[in-house]
Amino acid sequence: MPGREGAARGGDFHQGCAGAAVRQFAADRMTNDSQQMEGTSMNGFQQNFDETDSPAWRGRFPRNEIISLLVVNRPLNLAESTSQDLTVGELLDMAGLGRIRDLKLGYGTSAGSLALREAIAEGCGVSAEQIITTQGTALGLFLLAFEVCRSGDEAVLATPCFPPSRDCLVGAGVNVREIKLTFEHGYGLDLDGIDASLSSKTKLVSIASPQNPAGVQTSRADIEKLLALMEKRSPEAILFVDETYREAAYGDDAVADSFAALDTRIVTGASVSKALGAPGLRTGWLTVADTDLRARLNVAKMNTVISGSVLDETLATVLLRHREGVLAPRRRLLASALGELAQWCESERERVEWVRPDAGALCCVRLRAEAFDEAAVSRFWDLLPAHDLQLASGAWFGESRRVFRLGFGYLPPARLAPALSALSAALDGATA
Ligand SMILES: Cc1ncc(COP(=O)(O)O)c(C=O)c1O
Repeated sequence: MPGREGAARGGDFHQGCAGAAVRQFAADRMTNDSQQMEGTSMNGFQQNFDETDSPAWRGRFPRNEIISLLVVNRPLNLAESTSQDLTVGELLDMAGLGRIRDLKLGYGTSAGSLALREAIAEGCGVSAEQIITTQGTALGLFLLAFEVCRSGDEAVLATPCFPPSRDCLVGAGVNVREIKLTFEHGYGLDLDGIDASLSSKTKLVSIASPQNPAGVQTSRADIEKLLALMEKRSPEAILFVDETYREAAYGDDAVADSFAALDTRIVTGASVSKALGAPGLRTGWLTVADTDLRARLNVAKMNTVISGSVLDETLATVLLRHREGVLAPRRRLLASALGELAQWCESERERVEWVRPDAGALCCVRLRAEAFDEAAVSRFWDLLPAHDLQLASGAWFGESRRVFRLGFGYLPPARLAPALSALSAALDGATA
């Protein structure tokens, strides 16, 4: 993982042509903050996964350039991991919101509204009682890191990963043992590597299925093997399976079952953000079979956010009740976008290689070493703004900056082909 080794530390941070990039921001996300951020950030946004060793950064959480996705939105945005954003209008048109005007804006309940937990429970095969709602899966990551682990405990984490999956642990003072899954092995789970890292100090094992950035799923057989290893080596540990992308299947592909009901040591997390297209509702959940842990997480939630927003939870309940109707057309769009991307990868096979994802609107593409030396990789990132393009650097996730996450479900379908053509033009420019 060059992003965490040798010269790439800090060396990945290029001061960019801020002016050029600023002109290309889509207006709907542009704020004064974004201009500030771009000014101190780099052109292609490929900062390191781990900046804790940077003397300038004094934050408790490592700073990761993935934060730029919240403020930068270029016209050819292939950096996002979501499918297209749902609108409030689409939600309001769904049955069940007739009485929304009467909704009282008091605090919500500690575990989350029962109606919402029932709707969630239906999708993951556990009882509503086992569910705690969270502000996105993101809050779940934070609560778990702070409640399951104590400073000095160990967590075993499969990387590359969504940066907060690791950084919440770092922020909580947990010793993180990273298991680096590789492009060469199609990002398959490395059970031997995990086995070697488990110990009686391990309190949490954290994986995602499908993973971010690769969209690769873990099989039930591998989860069972992992649980067996944990039983032997880390009897106190829980297994967190981040299922945020699970329902973002392609077309008629079967949707993988949630692992929530498989074993009482498993905690899963997910949200309405990805497959359902509603990250702005900031509504997610944890499934927690263990009563004691659930009680502790509820208190942790009380101490951070008190409760979820009753408005968000009401809207999310309606969305989940209509999930099949919302998901079906989105899955068709994902399947068609994936087909288009597969063709592009084939046409560019001399210059790039990819790992075909199992689910999720995202995948990993790598600049081939035969075609791109290190200078050409840098040129590639520097060229993106001029092509109105946005990609997520592998370095954000603990991968090489030679790898990028390509999000193929966020742009309207008509914009995908122009975005992929622009990407080819950036490849041309970098290798010229
Ligand atoms: C694997 C994974 N987990 C959690 C999250 C957090 O998303 P949210 O809080 O919107 O559910 C993300 C977002 O990209 C993610 O990729």
